[in-house]
Amino acid sequence: MKQQLEQIKTAALSAIAAAENSADCENIRVKYLGKKGELTAILKMMGGLSPEERPIMGQLVNTAKAEVDEALSAKVNEMNEKATELKLKEETIDITMPAKTDKTGKLHPLNTVLNDMIDIFQSMGFDVVDGPEVETDHYNFECLNVPADHPARDMQDTFYLAENILLRTQTSAAQIRTMETRKPPIRVICPGRVFRADEVDATHSPVFHQIEGLVVDKGVTMCDLKGVLEQFAHEIYGPDTKVKFRPSFFPFTEPSVEVDVSCSECGGKGCRVCKGAGWIEILGAGMVHPNVLRSCGIDPEEYSGFAFGIGLDRLTTTRYKISDIRLLFENDKRFLDQF
Ligand code: DAH
Repeated sequence: MKQQLEQIKTAALSAIAAAENSADCENIRVKYLGKKGELTAILKMMGGLSPEERPIMGQLVNTAKAEVDEALSAKVNEMNEKATELKLKEETIDITMPAKTDKTGKLHPLNTVLNDMIDIFQSMGFDVVDGPEVETDHYNFECLNVPADHPARDMQDTFYLAENILLRTQTSAAQIRTMETRKPPIRVICPGRVFRADEVDATHSPVFHQIEGLVVDKGVTMCDLKGVLEQFAHEIYGPDTKVKFRPSFFPFTEPSVEVDVSCSECGGKGCRVCKGAGWIEILGAGMVHPNVLRSCGIDPEEYSGFAFGIGLDRLTTTRYKISDIRLLFENDKRFLDQF
């Protein structure tokens, strides 16, 4: 029996030495020390021994059990330590690595300038309205006093989606939609994207942005137009900016003007930004043509109004001294990050 005990112990110890993981250890514990384990079974066989031998054998079995138990605990501890060490090694933090920074996005320069303009006009009592980018010939041209054979259409060729359905060439279409749905007094601006079949170069893009303005009320005059646009120019370009109104032609306004501001870069002396002119053209405007009012059901004998169309892209390139309009549309993050 002693010999048998010795064999079991040796087998248990070598199994412990060969154990590779905690599952192995658990199997060994059950096999040798568990209720039905081999060492427990030997204790049960002691009934057949003489009273003298029993305590001696009992002690031997208990010692063997303690030895196996201790070896097993040591093995489990060793495994746990190894696992911790491995985990620590895998999870080392390299404190010399550059930290990850949170990058927050920012507004595109066009939107920054647009938001400033919306603030300026809202402070003068204008509402912001929206209009569709896909327009009908009726709203984009006909109602704006530009019939099918009008030469002004030549300058505004565009992309036609179907006969009489086109990508709008000007935000002016929003004037008509507004006058059809609102009663005077009307004071609105309509910012948005417009489209023309233009060749791409440093100052032209087939997609660009305008902000349309419209005021209709009783007794609105050219003085109101000048006052509003001068105020706007001073707020955008600074109070010393000079504003020039040049006679011009638009089919939907009479009289019509184009508005220039003194170049904010050179103060009017002439430089690269204003191409030597000292002035920068920023918008077209005029008193709403009676035909346009009439086409929207507004009596031109009772009401008058003025309208304007500002080029947002031009305003943005001059404000940030951007030399090429294409940069605004390429969405190169390295360029946009500068603003
Ligand atoms: N729609 C004109 C253009 O795209 C700009 C413009 C001129 C708008 C005069 C107006 C205006 O409302 O009164 O060239």
